[in-house]
Amino acid sequence: MIIAQIMAGGIGKRMGNVPLPKQFLMLGSKPIIIHTIEKFILHSEFELILISVPDDWISYMEDILNKYNVQDKRIRVISGGKERNDTLDNALKYIAEIKTATEEDMLITHDAVRPFVTRRIIENNIESLSDFDAVDTVIAATDTIVEGNDGVITNIPIRDMMYQGQTPQSFRIGALKRSLSKLSVEERQKMSDSAKIMLLDGKKVKMVDGENFNIKITTPYDLTIANAILENLH
Ligand code: CTP
Repeated sequence: MIIAQIMAGGIGKRMGNVPLPKQFLMLGSKPIIIHTIEKFILHSEFELILISVPDDWISYMEDILNKYNVQDKRIRVISGGKERNDTLDNALKYIAEIKTATEEDMLITHDAVRPFVTRRIIENNIESLSDFDAVDTVIAATDTIVEGNDGVITNIPIRDMMYQGQTPQSFRIGALKRSLSKLSVEERQKMSDSAKIMLLDGKKVKMVDGENFNIKITTPYDLTIANAILENLH
């Protein structure tokens, strides 16, 4: 079984003073998250499409699915978690309750606030899980990446080997659970990136090419850029 998880459990602090978690803000004629969900429902390979939102926003999410006429039997709106990895955990728990679920099932996780993901990127993620237990979507870094601490540079890695992580991030569920179980509570809390869970466990993580326009909407500036991308894509 191939399962999609749209990760929308955050509240978007860096978006500043807005009335709704950022995934629900309008982008063109519909909320950001609706654009994202529409990209996933186009794929018939998905048997289930989980939408993880903060507890208090479950009924709001269901309302906008109706309002924007997104009706698909595969969709389930579920609770996110405190940190991004808790949101992942909650989805794994939900999946574990499904009778037909197996260790070999595939989970394609995607940030709700990356509405410009493409069919090609999603397909490359699914295909790569034939040979790997974990997949990350990346683009080559164009700026030099500088490591620093306390206001001074500690390292300047070779740019040709530097990438920027995007989503989807995809996993074989059994392998992901095994790697997760090896982390201490502290390590789990610190871990902001799901692919790193597998990396720390010595697993090979396949890189799939993202797109420059597969941006994450984090700040008000990103929303301006996203509106410009939307206008140019249509
Ligand atoms: N996310 C999630 N569960 C969390 C935190 C984040 O599912 N507990 C999701 C967000 O909803 C978003 C994606 O992960 O779609 C990327 O995270 P980020 O941009 O950091 O979102 P927020 O945590 O909402 O933003 P901020 O850090 O500014 O509060």
